[in-house]
Amino acid sequence: MNYYYITGTSRGIGKAIAENLLENPSNRVIGLSRQRSIDHPNYRHSFLDLTDPSTIAEFKFELHANAKKIYLINNAGVLGFIKPVGSLDAATIIKNFTVNLIAPAVLTNAFIECYDSRDAEKVILNISSGAGKTPIDGWAVYCASKSGLDMFSRVVDAEQKIRETKPQENIHRGFHVFSIAPGVVNTGMQDEIRSAQKEDFSRLEDFIGYKVNNELSEPEFVSKKYINILSNINNIKNVLSSIKDFE
Ligand SMILES: NC(=O)c1ccc[n+]([C@@H]2O[C@H](COP(=O)([O-])OP(=O)(O)OC[C@H]3O[C@@H](n4cnc5c(N)ncnc54)[C@H](OP(=O)(O)O)[C@@H]3O)[C@@H](O)[C@H]2O)c1
Repeated sequence: MNYYYITGTSRGIGKAIAENLLENPSNRVIGLSRQRSIDHPNYRHSFLDLTDPSTIAEFKFELHANAKKIYLINNAGVLGFIKPVGSLDAATIIKNFTVNLIAPAVLTNAFIECYDSRDAEKVILNISSGAGKTPIDGWAVYCASKSGLDMFSRVVDAEQKIRETKPQENIHRGFHVFSIAPGVVNTGMQDEIRSAQKEDFSRLEDFIGYKVNNELSEPEFVSKKYINILSNINNIKNVLSSIKDFE
């Protein structure tokens, strides 16, 4: 049996990945978000608000004794506001960093602790963004949190590679970690971007153009691509990539 913990399964990319995975009867999906929108016998939902640090810290992964694969997909993410720094709301800055960066870090730590001695294919996939590599005005918290997620992934990967060189610690298989960006996808997040105020966001017209010119990928296409990429993790050469880097 394969177990997939996925944050943000109520809509968008996370929902599409969960629904695609559920087409395979060997897969079990545990979704983590504030709302539930999937009803399937092999799906379970944890109603979690990932802006709440104590909720994140208390989350427990289950042992899944029969697991061949165990995955954590840190997908939940928010833009929250599109405004220049200096006009942001302090509480929302804290909440957005918590969902986008602190929650994936805390969940990844608990995931590695829980499954460290398990002999299964163990993968952490972080859904990153091109915004973590390029500054975009109005998106400071989002860009910084995605950039942090990339670096966090690189450090975890470096730690796992060091572990492989130590035979006494390398009794069990290590963890693979990837931070893979989806490109621009036709979800609620893009609706939010297009509803920004022109004076707060110099690239508003670009994002309106992506929609008008049909340049947004559909979540179903993106989810199939992620699943295809993950079907052979040995083909993933770098910790950081974009789905566009794969055939
Ligand atoms: N769409 C794009 O063009 C694009 C581009 C690059 C990267 N990404 C990344 O892709 C990922 C998915 O984005 P999307 O476009 O699918 O977004 P979306 O349609 O807005 O969905 C966001 C998901 O995150 C969950 N979420 C948000 N706040 C949460 C909270 N406080 N607690 C728990 N879950 C929470 C939501 O669930 P609830 O509201 O039910 O809690 C929802 O399921 C994000 O990490 C995003 O940064 C998207």
